[in-house]
Amino acid sequence: MALTDNQTLVLASANPGKIREIQSILTRQSIVPQSQFNIEEADETGSTFVENAIIKARNAALHSHLPALADDSGLVVDALNGAPGVISARYAGVGASDQENLQKLLTDLESVAVEKRTARFVCVMVFMRHAHDPLPIISQGVWEGVILSAPAGHHGFGYDPIFWVPSHQQTSAEMSPDIKNELSHRAQALRQLTQFISP
Ligand code: IMP
Repeated sequence: MALTDNQTLVLASANPGKIREIQSILTRQSIVPQSQFNIEEADETGSTFVENAIIKARNAALHSHLPALADDSGLVVDALNGAPGVISARYAGVGASDQENLQKLLTDLESVAVEKRTARFVCVMVFMRHAHDPLPIISQGVWEGVILSAPAGHHGFGYDPIFWVPSHQQTSAEMSPDIKNELSHRAQALRQLTQFISP
């Protein structure tokens, strides 16, 4: 099902950066954050990104009675068997800051050689036509990198200062936001999803 022009979609996020990014790609639809409907964030109880994105989209569609979009993202590190994974935002504990999460990751990887520090940012996006949609549209973006042993750069957020992008020979925090928005896991997932819902 392709969306009609001017269709309103509710986004299961309150992050203004994400709303802007999504609206700049889905130009023919109107993206409204779930906070405008006083919808509370759903508990992310899934053990995979796709489960959590579905939980968030279903919750937003259920309470808004509108089609809903949700994303779930994080960092997957090979040497840690996929951690921090779905708990990327709270790796050092509930309420931990970006700096604390990043520091914990550096400590966990202290004894890991550079060639074994491969990792990727991943993003899963889900579109549900309604809360009981049995066939959500799902897309996935993957951005490959290597975890450095010390931070570099001041752009971005989260783990950006330690995420080295080999193709550009800089961290994602040293990269201009425009370039990051071209390459990132979120941009990839969003472009893929757009081809299905708003071709
Ligand atoms: P969210 O669920 O998409 O809000 O993101 C989960 C967590 O993954 C964030 O709090 C960050 O720690 C991490 N993360 C996701 N995307 C990025 C990124 O583009 N740069 C740095 N960290 C990210």
